[in-house]
Amino acid sequence: MISIQSKWRYLFMFLGIQLVVMALLSREGYQKRVTYFIRIFRKPDTTGVSGRNHTSAGVIGGDVYANLSHLSKALSHGDGMPYCPKTSPLTGGPIHISFPSGLTISEVQRKNPLVVRGGRYRPPGCEARHRTAIVIPHRQREHHLKFLLYYLHPFLQRQQLSYGIYVIHQAGNYTFNRAKLMNVGFREAMREEDWDCLFFHDVDLIPEDDRNLYTCDTNPKHAAIAMDKFGYKLPYKMYFGGVSALTPLHYLKMNGFPNNYWGWGGEDDDIGVRVSLAGMYITRPSLKVGRYKMIKHKLDKGNDVNPKRFSMLAKTRQTWKMDGMNTVEYEIISRQYLPLYTNITVNIGTEHGL
Ligand SMILES: *[C@@H]1O[C@H](CO)[C@@H](O)[C@H](O)[C@H]1NC(C)=O
Ligand SMILES: *[C@@H]1O[C@H](CO)[C@@H](O)[C@H](O)[C@H]1NC(C)=O
Ligand SMILES: *[C@@H]1O[C@H](CO)[C@@H](O)[C@H](O)[C@H]1NC(C)=O
Ligand SMILES: *[C@@H]1O[C@H](CO)[C@@H](O)[C@H](O)[C@H]1NC(C)=O
Repeated sequence: MISIQSKWRYLFMFLGIQLVVMALLSREGYQKRVTYFIRIFRKPDTTGVSGRNHTSAGVIGGDVYANLSHLSKALSHGDGMPYCPKTSPLTGGPIHISFPSGLTISEVQRKNPLVVRGGRYRPPGCEARHRTAIVIPHRQREHHLKFLLYYLHPFLQRQQLSYGIYVIHQAGNYTFNRAKLMNVGFREAMREEDWDCLFFHDVDLIPEDDRNLYTCDTNPKHAAIAMDKFGYKLPYKMYFGGVSALTPLHYLKMNGFPNNYWGWGGEDDDIGVRVSLAGMYITRPSLKVGRYKMIKHKLDKGNDVNPKRFSMLAKTRQTWKMDGMNTVEYEIISRQYLPLYTNITVNIGTEHGL
């Protein structure tokens, strides 16, 4: 049994850490500090969807594959095609989302006949105004990936984007590192094509409204602002998790994402802090369109809560220039150009190196 005295000692230690965090952030406004407090006491979620029925909110969504059936392969991709209209005529707003148990990857393939090798697409009949790469960090979530692909492909086609989907698969069983996988995805995607926007996308989040444009803004954009698990509200002001969109220039300006957050939590806040340290700010779509449904799941094996996340977050101001895109080290194990996505399997090592 722990003695009363050492219980107090732990309590003081805990409060001490919070105070250090507060002090380090004291140059920021009061609002931000409150925000960090909320974050610090937040627990990891084990289920995506809360008990309350937020899903409908009076909105009845349409079929995400509607309006795509008349697009045909016959339309050419030749030179001199006109640009696609500024606002796509194919978008329809809210999308109905469900997770039918019988869905197979070949069914997703069948429903997306215009998607080509590696998960690439260009709108037929017009020249896309935007080229967007979707980067999805992944391990042992094939079931979620299938649903995401089922919804994301038609969602992007309705927006008349030229796009590619990259799944960055962490090899081995060592602790998951979401942010480092994003750095790998950025470099590998940019190596293949001159993308003008990158969407960093969790595998278990499905966008619910196709007016949530998968294009970049003049500042880094946080797209997943209204998730069902947070009651379709932003959980706190500096939240930058789930789905975010940056141009290559934004990404390099903030030295990418941190490489040293192993396990669950903290890295998304670190990224949010990097945005402001690099002199940029976070833009967001409206709460009405930035809606996402999270696929239910248990906490993953090999993705335990990172106990160092608070102390690391407190040091972002000192570390962001020394840790990020300029220091990322990894080893590509394989690159598969599958019909619906490019699977880049990578050894990212451990915190002790490759
Ligand atoms: C949520 O509401 C919709 C529409 O009213 C209903 O069809 C659905 O069954 C409800 N889901 C839950 C989990 O209550
Ligand atoms: C299909 O496009 C039309 C506009 O051309 C739009 O009004 C309609 O909502 C779209 N349908 C769906 C199901 O999204
Ligand atoms: C990872 O874990 C799985 C299941 O626990 C095991 O089958 C596999 O061999 C492990 N892989 C490595 C590289 O250790
Ligand atoms: C990606 O490729 C690796 C290596 O071939 C494979 O083990 C893994 O299952 C693939 N992942 C996905 C999501 O396709």
